[in-house]
Amino acid sequence: MFHPSLFKGANVVVTGAGRGIGLEIARQFLDCGAHVLLHGGRAAAGPLPDFLENAVAEARAHVVYADFLEEGGIGALLQRVDSLFPHVDVLINNAGTMVGRFPAADLTDEQYDTVVRLNQTSVVEVTRGLLRSLRRAPHAAIVNTVSISALTGGSPGSAIYSATKAFVSTYSKGLARELAPAGIRVNCVSPGTITTDFHARYSSAEKLEATRKTIPLQRLGTAEDCAPAYLFLASNTLSGYITGQVLEVNGGQLIC
Ligand SMILES: NC(=O)c1ccc[n+]([C@@H]2O[C@H](COP(=O)([O-])OP(=O)(O)OC[C@H]3O[C@@H](n4cnc5c(N)ncnc54)[C@H](OP(=O)(O)O)[C@@H]3O)[C@@H](O)[C@H]2O)c1
Repeated sequence: MFHPSLFKGANVVVTGAGRGIGLEIARQFLDCGAHVLLHGGRAAAGPLPDFLENAVAEARAHVVYADFLEEGGIGALLQRVDSLFPHVDVLINNAGTMVGRFPAADLTDEQYDTVVRLNQTSVVEVTRGLLRSLRRAPHAAIVNTVSISALTGGSPGSAIYSATKAFVSTYSKGLARELAPAGIRVNCVSPGTITTDFHARYSSAEKLEATRKTIPLQRLGTAEDCAPAYLFLASNTLSGYITGQVLEVNGGQLIC
């Protein structure tokens, strides 16, 4: 889709790349010549897809697993990045999930802590841990995954998840200003309703069909719809004058 050497030689880290949107982002970076460290999620769920198996064999892709909710999980990922890459050109903070639907009155402290730690605190910790490496790159970029629910508040039971995505959106804007003098751009991609395992877990087929009917483009999104937005925002050639922005990828589900 993009030029096959758009990211030639670039070192790219993608979190939550074992499946869904993150896996497709990693695939498209590999197609454009990048070296990619994929954080594959908590643990291998099965054999790697063929494209990844080949890229690993060519030492262009590296896969690491780390549970961000476990003590030392993020530290293990950061160590692996440091041992692999002399600098990081692109960081994609994408790992996250709703964890569950928790009605406000029943929400436990543990559920609250889990959702915040996974979707919010981990982004701060991974970013902080890789900043020195990003500063060493000539034109580094950070792209964070947020959500349409950061603006809408989401559907019932997802208020805390939605609020964590709003946090990441605002955090990214602050960071964009702070890191601009160092030549580091920070932007977000905000997916709408995307057909990955995420919604297979948290939304019924009826709910998804009802949502589909409200979308001006009349279909749910795919990981393939989302990934090019990340590559665009990561490329200094394509978006070198864009920082502190949120790119909504939602088929027109939210137009404001
Ligand atoms: N799908 C949508 O409609 C949608 C809409 C808006 C925003 N998003 C956001 O887009 C991102 C990707 O979601 P997706 O749709 O591709 O979902 P997905 O297929 O469920 O992928 C989520 C990724 O995050 C990882 N992850 C989950 N819990 C983790 C933990 N405790 N420690 C480390 N990694 C963990 C998963 O690893 P495991 O394999 O170990 O679970 C997986 O790699 C998420 O941040 C999500 O919030 C999705």
